[in-house]
Amino acid sequence: MTNKQIIEKLLESLEEVRQRPRLFFGEDAPPVLNFLLGFNLACEAAEIDKSYQDMYLKIQMERNWQINNALHPVVLMARQGLAKDAIIQEALILEIETWKRLLAELPIMNNLKNQFLLDPTVTFLNHGSFGACPKPVFETYQRWQLELERQPVEFLGRRFDDLMDQARARLADYLHAPADSLIFVPNATAGVNTVARSLNLQPGDEILTTDHEYGACDLTWQFVCRQTGAVYLRHPIPLPVTNHADFVESFWSAVTPRTRVIFISHITSPTALIFPVAEICRRAREAGILTIVDGAHAPGQIPLDLDAIGADAYTGNCHKWLCAPKGAAFLVVRPDLHNQINPLIVSWGDMNETLTFVNRNQWQGTREPSAFLSVPTAIDFQQEHHWDNVRLRCHQMASEMRGRLAELFGLAPICPDSPEWFGQMITVPLPPCDPTILKTRLYDEFRVEVPIVTWGGNHYVRVSFQGYNTPTDADALVHALQKILC
Ligand SMILES: Cc1ncc(COP(=O)(O)O)c(C=O)c1O
Repeated sequence: MTNKQIIEKLLESLEEVRQRPRLFFGEDAPPVLNFLLGFNLACEAAEIDKSYQDMYLKIQMERNWQINNALHPVVLMARQGLAKDAIIQEALILEIETWKRLLAELPIMNNLKNQFLLDPTVTFLNHGSFGACPKPVFETYQRWQLELERQPVEFLGRRFDDLMDQARARLADYLHAPADSLIFVPNATAGVNTVARSLNLQPGDEILTTDHEYGACDLTWQFVCRQTGAVYLRHPIPLPVTNHADFVESFWSAVTPRTRVIFISHITSPTALIFPVAEICRRAREAGILTIVDGAHAPGQIPLDLDAIGADAYTGNCHKWLCAPKGAAFLVVRPDLHNQINPLIVSWGDMNETLTFVNRNQWQGTREPSAFLSVPTAIDFQQEHHWDNVRLRCHQMASEMRGRLAELFGLAPICPDSPEWFGQMITVPLPPCDPTILKTRLYDEFRVEVPIVTWGGNHYVRVSFQGYNTPTDADALVHALQKILC
């Protein structure tokens, strides 16, 4: 069903409720009509996933249209002594009008779940680990693969560079980055490795980072330090974080005259926090320190403007929150550094010293480029499905989840309830538990796929919300955690 069809069906069924209120509400319908009851009935009639009701109730409430509240128009009508039947009629007209407005503004009613290939028997709340690819994007990916196999020499020998250039241009435009500074890499780990292993580090040079980084990237830098004698310094950022200014001050206090590189996540892996990377990059540029941002979780989860962030090097995954097929990521490097960055695999592109950054990196031996070539379709998919609204809905689910779990366990959240600090993914503290047993039981007994994270000696659950998730998924997790831990 398209959004338009859903809206039409919903309005049709609300209209039916309006025509025959007694049938739906009975003789004793209360004077204060429950907004949700009407919507529930309409959803049922239109066969729409009822789990959206909480979300819309929340949006509604945020608009000061509070239910059962003294300001509710129905309460006001009742106070004016209007007859019950008239109130019911008025309330339903109001409801229809409200829904018309709301649905026109937020055309996200169709459940995105059926657009994805995920196993419907699993409550999938771990988009953060490897993403998930929508059907139309995956079909594009498979079409590229088939086309390649039909005539491999034509595809890889003649068309490869043009196709890659087109895909790069589209991604660069999406990211607000210059296309000739962007190369495709198979994953963010490769992006970090490409830069880290190119730098001419000297013994005693310092690479400053935080203690919230992705483990494999820590290992990359430790490897580079073993080779060069440089030092990797993981500056502690204790929880809870409070505000960006304090964060930047605390992080900056660890800068020394020997700091040559700052390596920092845009959105952290264990703690799912958005770090204020633009301000760190600005300060670092003034101080002549190189910045490398690990944006593995950023593209698709938060709006990205790489030009405004101003990192010397920024790597990000398209296969996580942009929902591209696995094996699609990018690295953007500032033009003045192009010549310093070596390809991870030296191949035909290195024949001539004067070749560009893109040429030196684009061909790394024979490899399957279909994931890269599908990135424009992933961008289209999100734009066609009003991803700003999807993100907002997911953020609201994330915000709600942290509140529910904080209440359930009596443990304070790790950051303020703000889109400044988290997007569609949240890390929430758990009471003392065995993380391995908890993870196993969540999956084996409740079919809930969600990572349990250990950070700083404490255990957390990291919950991802993507377009395919509904409040029913959130309920399933809360129910399972309650059963296992309470
Ligand atoms: C912050 C961060 N950086 C890097 C990576 C590595 O991504 P990939 O496995 O795609 O290289 C991850 C993976 O989850 C991550 O969370």
